[in-house]
Amino acid sequence: MARILTGIQSSGRPHLGNILGAIAPAIELSKDPNNESFFFIADLHSLITIKDGPLREEYVRAIAATWLAFGFDTDRNVFWRQSRVQEHTELAWYLNCFTPFPMLANAHSFKDKSERLADVNAGLFTYPVLQAADILLYDANIVPVGKDQKQHLEMTRDIATALNRQVGQDILVLPDARIDERLMVIPGVDGQKMSKSYNNYIDIFLPEKELRKAVMKIMTDSTPLEEPKNPDTDITFQLYSLIAGEPEVALMRQNYEKGGFGYGHAKQALYEMILEKFSEPRRIFNYYMENTAELEQKLVEGEEKARQIAQETIKKVRKALGYGS
Ligand code: ADP
Ligand code: TRP
Repeated sequence: MARILTGIQSSGRPHLGNILGAIAPAIELSKDPNNESFFFIADLHSLITIKDGPLREEYVRAIAATWLAFGFDTDRNVFWRQSRVQEHTELAWYLNCFTPFPMLANAHSFKDKSERLADVNAGLFTYPVLQAADILLYDANIVPVGKDQKQHLEMTRDIATALNRQVGQDILVLPDARIDERLMVIPGVDGQKMSKSYNNYIDIFLPEKELRKAVMKIMTDSTPLEEPKNPDTDITFQLYSLIAGEPEVALMRQNYEKGGFGYGHAKQALYEMILEKFSEPRRIFNYYMENTAELEQKLVEGEEKARQIAQETIKKVRKALGYGS
């Protein structure tokens, strides 16, 4: 039985890139009966950038509703908010004291973000330590993440090894990153990586009119309607291929190549395909965003399960470090 664990920061509503690149593949992995999945919302990490409580809460709900909308089974797995299980922050402190300062100072993510962000706080600096605590609290074996998180997983292993060595026992389990190299980077409406930070994302849960508007913003070249077009360099076609089935994609390719088919037609087809393919997730997402008490109930149930496991780990760590029995 492998224990899979991953977290998503509550720093915005999930977009098509997050869904196709992270959420849907993690849910697929959770369906394997040999796996036990621990998925949480990293709402403490998001305090680094989002200080507005109600806004952060709104994003927490949107992320939780997305996991549920894409079929995460919360009865068989564990699903919770990081901030409600205090052991995350307690373990993070212990781990801080086993983390060499240069390891954090040289982290790629810190270097990148400290150049871009106006508010470079200590939370940004110790971000990887809280992430290590998230993982080590639950004895996770496999952590599915994007390529950008590879270094954070290496740090988690190094920090765990340092603590284990100090206490002379393997109390923390070393996790492995699962980085799916086949997963492509989903392009945004401007052709760069789809990201909240570039404001080029498609939010598939928007009401129809707004969703259509977002799709219509996709950039194209200026080939006139009558002329044949190259599907392989076109963003609309790329997004369409990620969502539609094979026969529909083949038909779309023909439309591009034969000419007389404009980019407006292609975008309309993409918009309709999003509505069709995601009709059930859209329905479930909206249901939970309206019935927040039910969503809250699922999170509270998950928090209880998570807390029990976290408390056991903390007890072992406290004892090993000489903080009582
Ligand atoms: P953003 O860039 O929008 O801030 P995050 O960095 O919060 O997204 O990413 C959350 C998860 O979604 C990560 O696992 C990341 O690898 C994945 N992800 C984000 N954007 C994309 C994308 N454009 N294509 C594929 N996966 C993505
Ligand atoms: N740092 C991750 C990201 O930005 C989010 C995260 C926080 C995480 N804690 C984690 C991912 C633990 C995996 C495991 O995408």
